[in-house]
Amino acid sequence: MSGRTQRLVGIAAFILFWSAAIDPFLSSVEGGTERIPRPSTGTAFSDSVKTDPDTGLAIDDQLMLVKGQCTACHSSKLILQSHFSRDKWIERIRWMQRTQKLWDLGESEPAILAYLTKHYGPADGAFDGRREPLKKVKWHKPGN
Ligand code: HEC
Repeated sequence: MSGRTQRLVGIAAFILFWSAAIDPFLSSVEGGTERIPRPSTGTAFSDSVKTDPDTGLAIDDQLMLVKGQCTACHSSKLILQSHFSRDKWIERIRWMQRTQKLWDLGESEPAILAYLTKHYGPADGAFDGRREPLKKVKWHKPGN
């Protein structure tokens, strides 16, 4: 063997040896990441209240009523972006009736108001948008 061939064989052996030595380590690393359970993002971040694909309004027994009475003149976005107490909702409806030709809601008014206050009621001031604050937490006392 010439010196050049010997050197090439040496390099090839070196590469073969190390790739074989490293291989179990590499595959255990790969296998390791696969075994980490991934959260299913589909359910983890979805809201518990389903919304109507047309309007974005919360799906509820009163949805069709509210959709019929409240999206005839303007987009549902005006409702979606609002957080009013029941009194404020009454005030807004009276204002629309006084100045925007909104009709008398008659017997459906209480149901509409209940829907609006339930889904578009006052926003909790302390809520920063990341998650609901913990309520009635039972803290574990160290030593018990
Ligand atoms: C007859 C037409 C009409 C109907 C029906 C109607 N609105 Fe309106 N509404 C208006 C107009 C006009 C405005 C003012 C829009 C603007 O400012 O660009 C308005 C504004 C609003 C706003 C924004 C008020 C504010 O001060 O931020 C909300 C919320 C709203 N409407 C909710 C409702 C709800 C809930 C219903 C169903 C009970 C409803 N609207 C039905 C005409 C209507």
